[in-house]
Amino acid sequence: MPRLDAPTVIRTKRDGGVLSDAAIDWVIDGYTHGRVADEQMSALLMAIFLNGMTVAETTRWTSAMVASGERFDFTDLYRPGSPGRPAALVDKHSTGGVGDKITIPLLPVVMACGASVPQASGRGLGHTGGTLDKLESIAGFTAELSKDRIRQQLSEVGGAIFAAGELAPADRKIYALRDITSTVDSTPLIASSVMSKKLAEGTGALVLDVKVGRGAFLKSDDEARELARIMIDLGNANGVPTRALLTDMNCPLGRTVGNSVEIAESLEVLAGGGPSDVVALTLALAAEMLEAAGIDGADPAETLRDGSAMDCFRALVAAQGGDLTRPLPLGTATETVTAPRGGIMGDLDAMGVALAAWRLGAGRAEPGEPVQLGAGVRIHRKPGEPVAAGEALFTLYTETAERLPGALAELDGAWSVGDSAPAQRPLVIDRIG
Ligand code: URA
Repeated sequence: MPRLDAPTVIRTKRDGGVLSDAAIDWVIDGYTHGRVADEQMSALLMAIFLNGMTVAETTRWTSAMVASGERFDFTDLYRPGSPGRPAALVDKHSTGGVGDKITIPLLPVVMACGASVPQASGRGLGHTGGTLDKLESIAGFTAELSKDRIRQQLSEVGGAIFAAGELAPADRKIYALRDITSTVDSTPLIASSVMSKKLAEGTGALVLDVKVGRGAFLKSDDEARELARIMIDLGNANGVPTRALLTDMNCPLGRTVGNSVEIAESLEVLAGGGPSDVVALTLALAAEMLEAAGIDGADPAETLRDGSAMDCFRALVAAQGGDLTRPLPLGTATETVTAPRGGIMGDLDAMGVALAAWRLGAGRAEPGEPVQLGAGVRIHRKPGEPVAAGEALFTLYTETAERLPGALAELDGAWSVGDSAPAQRPLVIDRIG
């Protein structure tokens, strides 16, 4: 076999060729262990972004990323409080949206229904928020859990949300590089990134929330369906039965975009209230997760009414060191955008709101940078709701007042007030798998 080297691998992809299994294994292993430089991986990622990868290449790229670290196995665990009943392991992953806090109410809902959820989760990527950044706005919460602690937590409370750590470390490095090289929105790179973590984390089944629209990485239904199909095939081929919902991401989910503001809204949902779109998507995904886990007869909506989902969330947060009795941080520099006229709230562009939240400090401009936990946007009027002249439409929060003008500029043009309700797509567009 010819000796492999980074320039040859990059050239093959740059010129539209297909990478061999050996080349993929070599480059992923080399990058994980520092033998392939950031500059070289950046060039290869851009060549993949521009020329794509075949299904066979994506499959091998995913396997190589899984093989770069540990693969957890929790199949010997029992359900919390039910010795002798094997844990019904299931997880969900979103491809990234705006105001997408669904994991936070969803996990406790399915835990309350008897599922066990080992969730390797991520930080913000590009304009999208990260579940871990949001959860870290709860005082004391840690996502850095050892394998033993995850096992113990699954046995005792039935769920854990953790940083991928030693799972798919190749993805951790590549994810950070994609974020700063404009190579995020590539179907094979998203598919392999999501599925490497999900195959390694030890879940028994998987439900994917594939986002499509202005605020998603993929803008067209066809692209999103192709992504869903590739990920479903990767999961099924690797022993993790996988299905997907294709969901709308033209408008932000719920009424908050940021970190602590999204936790506050999730707590409202867990208390039996909250925005109807967040509740609806939580319940739709819960139904899929429970079916995938083989749990029937449970009523996810009842867990929000009777407080059992809230109890599960409290138990999960406490197990991870979080203290929900402490107030959530909220940026002290604020600005309110008011309605120039009365009428009906028109279309609301998720990307404009996401970029405003990012400019306020909710996301990162540099890898590893701390985010502002109290930064974000509160949306007072959603599309189709009546608006009175002069009333508040958005409130912006940050710790850094100088960030407000840039955030306001991002919001400009992302909304309108008109005379009729805008056309809206259904939240769940399709079910695949
Ligand atoms: N989520 C991931 O884990 N990776 C991506 O590339 C996009 C969303």
